[in-house]
Amino acid sequence: MSELFQQDFINKSALITGGARNIGLAIARNLASRGASVAIVDICHDLETVPYCMSSEEDLNNSVAELAGTGARTLGLNCDVRNENQVQKTIDRVVEEFGGLDILVNNAGIISLFPLKEISEKAWDEVLDVCLKGTFFCCKHVVPLMVEKKYGKVVNISSVAGLRGLGLSIHYAAAKHGVIGLTKALAMEVADHNINVNAICPGTVESPMLDGLASQLSLDKDTYEHFSQGHLIKDRRITPDDIANAVRWLASDESRFLTGAVINVDAGWTAGG
Ligand SMILES: NC(=O)c1ccc[n+]([C@@H]2O[C@H](COP(=O)([O-])OP(=O)(O)OC[C@H]3O[C@@H](n4cnc5c(N)ncnc54)[C@H](O)[C@@H]3O)[C@@H](O)[C@H]2O)c1
Repeated sequence: MSELFQQDFINKSALITGGARNIGLAIARNLASRGASVAIVDICHDLETVPYCMSSEEDLNNSVAELAGTGARTLGLNCDVRNENQVQKTIDRVVEEFGGLDILVNNAGIISLFPLKEISEKAWDEVLDVCLKGTFFCCKHVVPLMVEKKYGKVVNISSVAGLRGLGLSIHYAAAKHGVIGLTKALAMEVADHNINVNAICPGTVESPMLDGLASQLSLDKDTYEHFSQGHLIKDRRITPDDIANAVRWLASDESRFLTGAVINVDAGWTAGG
């Protein structure tokens, strides 16, 4: 790999929501390893209806220390993407530190599993507000800065659940379908400003999220296997790095003619219907 390729994000800055662990952290590592300044933001407290822990302040600090240890310019901020005021202040702080923002990755997301009649308003709101409203707030406050600069890459993390129903999660499917609609509509709005807006739909990725869902279902088999039955590629598992590689490509100029696109990193799941 040439030195030039490794540094293709030098002088670029990125904000990754839900960046304290797993897919978000893998994205931050990937962009930082190619020269980007990275801001990772995370909620750092648990949510009432979500059956697993969110990242803690300690997780966020450890992730920042790890990224900074590689020499990357790094910022870690506590921010709940559901809160527009916090989002605005966080973006102001990132811009103050990095001098601008070139890449926005809307990765923060949560899931819970309930049949329709058991979804409380609170559970509905938490999922929709983190996955969809949070994406809207971040776009609302970052994209105008990109318009001014006439440059920007927005990558929204949707899901296979943004393309089809998966069962026991109409709120998650509604939110993730919404992320795809938002992606396409925003791509139309800002194409003239040299801003690309795309979405990625991961299949089942190894994550703490999966373990939390296992407890809701009382599973008697491997959680990953249970949730990846639709994968066509079965001899290996999708990792956070697989998603991060796709994000890296969408955040780069190699993909400059992709906008409003949806890329499935789903081991063939959606190819099968
Ligand atoms: N893991 C999978 O199998 C899978 C599959 C498809 C899509 N996805 C999507 O990928 C993204 C990342 O998933 P993951 O597996 O890394 O999950 P994860 O639970 O490991 O990480 C999500 C991160 O988001 C943070 N977060 C949650 N609510 C937040 C809020 N309101 N504000 C800021 N941060 C918040 C959490 O603290 C956590 O650090 C999510 O959008 C998820 O829906 C995951």
